[in-house]
Amino acid sequence: MKNKRIICGLLLLSTISCSLIAQGKKEYPYKDATKPVEERVNDLVSRMTLEEKVLQLNQYTLGRNDNVNNVGEAVKNIPAELGSVIYFNSDPEYRNALQRKAMEESRLGIPLIFGYDVIHGYRTTYPISLAQACSWNPQLVKRACGVAAQEARMSGVDWTFSPMIDVARDGRWGRVSEGYGEDPYTNALFGYVSVQGYQGNDMSNSKNVAACLKHYVGYGASEGGRDYVFTEISRQTLWDTYMLPYEAGVKGGAATLMSSFNDISGIPGTANHYILTDILKDRWGHDGFVVSDWGAIEQLRPQGVAADKKEAALIAFNAGVEMDMMNNSYNNHLAELVNEGKVSEERLNDAVKRVLRVKFRLGLFDNPYTPVSTEKERFLLPESLEIAEKLAEESMVLLKNDNKTLPLSNLSKIAVIGPMAKDKEHLLGSWAAHGNAKDVISIYEGLESEFKGKSELLYVKGCDFEGNDTSGFAEALATAQRADVILVCLGEKKGWSGENASRSTLALPQVQEQLVQELKKSGKPVVILLSSGRPLELNRLEPLADAMLEVWQPGIRGGNPIAGILSGKINPSGKLSITFPYSTGQIPIYYNQRQSARPHQGKYQDIPNTPLYEFAHGLSYTTFEYGDLKASSLKVKRSDKLVIEIPVTNTGDMDGAETVHWFISDPVCSISRPVKELKYFKKEMLKKGETKVFRFDIHFDRDFGFVNGDGERFLESGDYYIIVKDKKLKIELID
Ligand code: GLC
Repeated sequence: MKNKRIICGLLLLSTISCSLIAQGKKEYPYKDATKPVEERVNDLVSRMTLEEKVLQLNQYTLGRNDNVNNVGEAVKNIPAELGSVIYFNSDPEYRNALQRKAMEESRLGIPLIFGYDVIHGYRTTYPISLAQACSWNPQLVKRACGVAAQEARMSGVDWTFSPMIDVARDGRWGRVSEGYGEDPYTNALFGYVSVQGYQGNDMSNSKNVAACLKHYVGYGASEGGRDYVFTEISRQTLWDTYMLPYEAGVKGGAATLMSSFNDISGIPGTANHYILTDILKDRWGHDGFVVSDWGAIEQLRPQGVAADKKEAALIAFNAGVEMDMMNNSYNNHLAELVNEGKVSEERLNDAVKRVLRVKFRLGLFDNPYTPVSTEKERFLLPESLEIAEKLAEESMVLLKNDNKTLPLSNLSKIAVIGPMAKDKEHLLGSWAAHGNAKDVISIYEGLESEFKGKSELLYVKGCDFEGNDTSGFAEALATAQRADVILVCLGEKKGWSGENASRSTLALPQVQEQLVQELKKSGKPVVILLSSGRPLELNRLEPLADAMLEVWQPGIRGGNPIAGILSGKINPSGKLSITFPYSTGQIPIYYNQRQSARPHQGKYQDIPNTPLYEFAHGLSYTTFEYGDLKASSLKVKRSDKLVIEIPVTNTGDMDGAETVHWFISDPVCSISRPVKELKYFKKEMLKKGETKVFRFDIHFDRDFGFVNGDGERFLESGDYYIIVKDKKLKIELID
């Protein structure tokens, strides 16, 4: 009897204490949505124990290896006080189950933040980012990011590990597909608009997500194009090449950054106090948080800067990495390091505040649960598909078009040959999130709808993506001989680019090149369509082709614009965001290279020094004539306004969009500068016969200025040149 009374007493006590906690939580300032975020952050941190603080700084996964039997298990195994998970599932209710555990079973009810790699779409898959940059249409890219955010947030993801803004000049590196190409300004601008698209004006909006600039910094300089390796980056190059996109993204309000795998000239990105704290936090004033890349903290051991996981945790945390992605370094060692005095309470509290601040700004404390919706309500909405098709269209680059081979018209038979012709999976590209091949319109399907009733399509596969099986060549050649034109659909599998997907050559597998050589015997016009996640080595294919169109990995809606371009319904407008080398042997080769001591010497003995297709190359079905550059003044002082204009006329017989790229060069500077630097671009539609004046308002510090190895911008008087196409105008800055 006595025991019973004790048990009842205990039960009563626990009920009272739970309700007091529940009551208390409601009265705690951090629970009050009317309070300013900073007040809520400070109040909450002041109530947290050391263990609760440490767990906020850890990220596990949810939904990665689930099957129906262990879904409950997964939620049960995750501590209620954890800070974050990478959410691989797309069911809001599954996500809410874990969130409910955090809100109701933890002492303080701190919500988790759910992250995921939404790189070029969540379910509506857009072209890969390298392709998106070739559209030179930032507003369209911003809209695509807005859709990606909506589909992700409605599926339980609050935070995307995107945009990737690593300047990359070595196409052997598989991750060149994930960023915006070789130019710092291009990565800065598209990174900036992506952050705006993801975060909108208010991250607490149920259709927005937090962005994550990655991989901070210099990952694209990976030696030999191999992944996870050393990067030799001088302080000067760090600042004038790799940091610019991150500065723009931070100034654009990016909530988070991801620290990089690569060793930056001796100090790995994840251990680098200079970039993570001196610059990011102290100089740029970033008040969000940094998450490590997957395993990047414990990888400090094989990188040779940490003896064990505990030391790796100490180095990364004190360098400025707030959250540990899947390392189990922080949750195992941070409390101990604090108790040993090696990590200060101040640094710990600052780190926790940064994570909580983003969670408050996302509205997760006040609306922790994702409203339940059907897939039909979330995905593949008509407007989303329109954006997907438009972005695919504007990203495609017409590389070659001899004798107006394109557009195709009045042809009775079109041979459609090659491994990419009917493929769907590989058009999605790497990092396709919940993109699904069944949503893809293939090249062949696009051709079928576009040429229905106009031309007969004759399809054979011809060969596979790789291997040495040429048994299909004879049938392919016979088919080609029956046709009026041959469309050869070649390219890369989606797994040939992306993470840990380096290739020693940019050339396509030999069997694909041999197929074209075989088809050439037919004597018919050859049009090559290329779907790739990187620039390609085309010097052997180029002479065999009458026309070549780079369609990249266009996502789910590439088929129709490809067919529309081939039929002439669409005038291609894409221009390259990355150089296509003549050969892999030229790498690294990019437009904004440093100046040579002997520009007319130092050539290769065996191949040209120039690339096959330059940065910003892209043909149209019409022609554009550029007039002369005109400046508001040719001799200026810093206090003056300087406006440069150039008239561009559509001199062809088809309406078309043209992007004008504005470069500057400063041939003499106290620090040697690239031969030219992109500073602005503008894309406009010009009707046939129409002239438009393109205008560039120069900001001297921004556009003429440079940056030194301490990241300080400076502006020197002297001669500068404005360069547009082959036009050049000298401006004298006299003070
Ligand atoms: C990967 C990638 C990174 C990605 C992260 C989470 O290793 O390097 O880009 O966001 O892990 O998937």
